Amino acid sequence: MNVLSIENLTKIYRGRAGGPPTAALEEVSLSLTAGDFTAVMGPSGSGKTTLLNLVATIDAPTSGRILVDGVDLAELDDEGLATFRRERLGFVFQDANLLDTMSLAENIALPLALARRPADEILARVDELAEELGIAAALHKYPAEVSGGQRQRAAAARAVAAKPALVLADEPTGALDSASSRDLLECFSGLNEKRGATILLVTHDPFAASWCKRVLFIKDGRLYTELRRGPGGRKELFDRVLGVLASLEGESRAAR
Ligand SMILES: Nc1ncnc2c1ncn2[C@@H]1O[C@H](COP(=O)(O)OP(=O)(O)O)[C@@H](O)[C@H]1O
Ligand SMILES: [Mg+2]
Repeated sequence: MNVLSIENLTKIYRGRAGGPPTAALEEVSLSLTAGDFTAVMGPSGSGKTTLLNLVATIDAPTSGRILVDGVDLAELDDEGLATFRRERLGFVFQDANLLDTMSLAENIALPLALARRPADEILARVDELAEELGIAAALHKYPAEVSGGQRQRAAAARAVAAKPALVLADEPTGALDSASSRDLLECFSGLNEKRGATILLVTHDPFAASWCKRVLFIKDGRLYTELRRGPGGRKELFDRVLGVLASLEGESRAAR
């Protein structure tokens, strides 16, 4: 079964103060199956964040359907949406969004505590994830006391802690240096491969996209093309991503 099905999704923002409306997404259809690790790329303003916000239920579509684990988001009321977000989705943003007054361990434990899991299970799961993501030694520190890379890895651990159906990440490496980006991407890749986490990652960065199994490109709110990782692995996918980005650029220039 599809973890995520998006059918003919359209989002039109009403123009401010009588200005013209913006079609941020037009008739986008795509699906993710369990264990997918998919990047969404596209020029600035192409609709990437809009897409993620609609799946995250932060905003509602103008038309079209979104199903997560077979549940049509349009059929949930406010309380249903809040429960859905808490239980079925994991989030990683550009800034870790950890709670400053809690240690990394407490932050990672939060979704499990909200799900009322037993204390021994929570402790075991936090330890196991911290070990896997290389932040075991920093668990009892506060977010302000660790590096940006460690904060993002803690955010990734928190996102997968309660085993959500889908992890959504918007530019998670955007604020990291290249070594920390690489560490974080290795973490995502490990969570995907070893734990079967299904991940949808929005990124500007071809290096980040090259860690994924599939890369979707959007342009002016429409799906443009898609690439899949082949036998050539990450390096080859990276080169193909650069090729598509160059043709996207070229078309935009020609249109001007
Ligand atoms: N809240 C909003 N109100 C009006 N227009 C918006 C809003 N959010 C985004 N847009 C417009 O929708 C388009 C897509 O934006 P966005 O999804 O943020 O693109 P990306 O994340 O790819 O840079 C852009 O033209 C942007 O200006
Ligand atoms: Mg964006």
